Amino acid sequence: MTTSSSSAAEKNSLILFLRKFFIVSLISLIFAVFFYLNKGEKSNFIIKTLELNGSVKEGYSLFKMNCVGCHGITARGLVGPDLHSITQRLNDKEIIKQVTEGLTPPMPSFEIDPQNMANLLQYLNTLK
Ligand code: HEC
Repeated sequence: MTTSSSSAAEKNSLILFLRKFFIVSLISLIFAVFFYLNKGEKSNFIIKTLELNGSVKEGYSLFKMNCVGCHGITARGLVGPDLHSITQRLNDKEIIKQVTEGLTPPMPSFEIDPQNMANLLQYLNTLK
């Protein structure tokens, strides 16, 4: 009697364990898929941006609207750092990430399309 009830309890705990294991695996799988898709989307954005030709003029007007508050009208730096020679310190990919991902608060992340990102990059390239 005691043996059979304890084996039923063991069976129950095994089922509970398997159920938990199943739920945890399912959640991990969902996260993995989400991160994978997200990563693909980000690298697509970078690839598209790098294929486009940017316009310095458009880039500067974007810069004036979005960046001068922190980086200064001549990009010599205020709250944010001086952006001269930035293209020697960071490669294009790193600059795109800096602008779109908000990695370093207080600098926000920007919702920007590839053409405008290419324009901004072109402008930043003129800051020698
Ligand atoms: C709210 C203020 C703010 C705004 C607006 C802002 N930035 Fe920044 N930015 C910063 C700060 C602060 C840093 C330094 C972060 C750190 O400590 O690394 C920074 C860093 C950077 C860097 C990296 C500099 C380096 O030397 O590593 C780049 C490139 C940059 N910003 C570009 C831009 C561009 C382009 C825009 C406009 C689209 C912009 N930022 C708007 C505050 C801002």
